[in-house]
Amino acid sequence: MEENETIRAEEIRANKEKIHQLLISTGRPGMERLVDWMETKTDFYTAPASTKYHLACEGGLAKHSLNVYDLLVQKVSSGLLRLSDDTIIITTLLHDLCKVNFYVRESKNVKEGTKINAYGKEVANWVEKEVWTVKDSFPVGHGEKSCYYIQSHIRLTDEEYAMIRLHMGSDRNGYPDPFSESAALFPGVIAIHTADLESAYIVETRG
Ligand SMILES: [Fe+2]
Ligand SMILES: [Fe+2]
Repeated sequence: MEENETIRAEEIRANKEKIHQLLISTGRPGMERLVDWMETKTDFYTAPASTKYHLACEGGLAKHSLNVYDLLVQKVSSGLLRLSDDTIIITTLLHDLCKVNFYVRESKNVKEGTKINAYGKEVANWVEKEVWTVKDSFPVGHGEKSCYYIQSHIRLTDEEYAMIRLHMGSDRNGYPDPFSESAALFPGVIAIHTADLESAYIVETRG
């Protein structure tokens, strides 16, 4: 992904329409309220997916969520594991809901090459640039926050909760490790984690 890459307005609109339709298609009680909250109280459809890594541009978060959806659909279609359509939709499209109202645009002085100063010396060239930065007003964790936002509106199954809560993988170096223990119970934990990595590191190639 080039730093200056953008997602066209029509694609942002189409992604929003697709995510809206898929979430509503689950018929999960409370889903209409959750979708309405996402559309009216958050920047889900315009937020970037990261500050400078993958899809660091307007509409990046929605596009990343759809990329993870496509990859998990492929894994299930290939026969690798079984997950219901609703579980695929809910876990992939909402796994990074914690990133809503989280990224802000800020002017920052960044180093861009060098220049020759008035004394003929080569010095760093500082320029003012608009960049994405993080402003976390509810710092309760990543998967944890997604689960909290989702469960404020709908009920997740145990499997869906484990998949979203642990989609970033293990953060322990020893035993007991909730990631590997949950993965033994729910293979979807592994599948969404790898789909997330494949999206960020392969599909949304880093610049
Ligand atoms: Fe994530
Ligand atoms: Fe993600």
